[in-house]
Amino acid sequence: MLSRGPDDTAGSREALDGRESKMSEHVTVPWVRGRKRRDGAEPLVMITAYDEPWARLVDAAGVDLILVGDTLAEIVLGYEDTLSVDVEQMAHHVGAVARARPRALVVGDLPWMSYHTEIFGAVRNAARLVRAGAGAVKLEGGRRRLAVVRAIIDAEIPVMAHLGLTPQSVHAMGGYKVQGRQLSEAEELVADAVALEQAGCFAIVLEGVPDVVADRVTAEVAVPTIGIGAGAGCDGQVLVLHDLLGLSKGPVPKFVRKYADVGTIVTEAVLQYAADVRAGSFPSDAESYHGSSALREALSMLS
Ligand code: KIV
Repeated sequence: MLSRGPDDTAGSREALDGRESKMSEHVTVPWVRGRKRRDGAEPLVMITAYDEPWARLVDAAGVDLILVGDTLAEIVLGYEDTLSVDVEQMAHHVGAVARARPRALVVGDLPWMSYHTEIFGAVRNAARLVRAGAGAVKLEGGRRRLAVVRAIIDAEIPVMAHLGLTPQSVHAMGGYKVQGRQLSEAEELVADAVALEQAGCFAIVLEGVPDVVADRVTAEVAVPTIGIGAGAGCDGQVLVLHDLLGLSKGPVPKFVRKYADVGTIVTEAVLQYAADVRAGSFPSDAESYHGSSALREALSMLS
């Protein structure tokens, strides 16, 4: 992804439906890095996708970044949390997304235990996602992860950080809880963000933190913050695709806005298909291949 467009043109825009939209050039890491709203940039739009068709569809909508998140585990593979996927599963899905050849930057999530135990292994795992098609990787955690962040960046792999409610820490956090509500925790978050920026991260996801804390982090760092449940003041927003489409199982967090009820559309379409099959009205003549009359006659002569 990085090599596919000079960074000064990667954000070049063509008119689309009266709005400015970047449809022709690939989004690059340097372009994303420069997208601070305080400098006049439009908010970044990131969304998850886990396979080729959905990556194609979200890219057609002009998103800036596609995150192949480890929410893959819950959203697509049916696990209860994100801890169950490994780097090979992530690479499999990063590859599927990359084969959509999106204009958006593809970010591959490093799953739990792929960067926690040793630095060389972490770099190798990050490279695995890049070879599968990611233009950058994302990993969770603050100053504790600095050594690994630096090593991955040293290997020329751009790193997006992820702070606040970090789902890979679900057990350590005692559940999915908003982080940074106490002043001391908020100060830690700001210090983590500054350290990650200094280590070279090109963007920081802020998940599940009070808006005032996200605002403070956003003001303190020169790289864009991308919020999810972090209020309106971040430099960008990210949502899980299936949540906003109404495809997720069970209730969604309060920060999700449901833009469509695709689940109902799918069920209704399949109900209709099943009814047509059972009624004998599918397939119709027009939906069938026909043999010649000679073939028909020959077949009827077979014993
Ligand atoms: O894995 C994921 O989808 C994420 C987003 C929720 C930010 O990390």
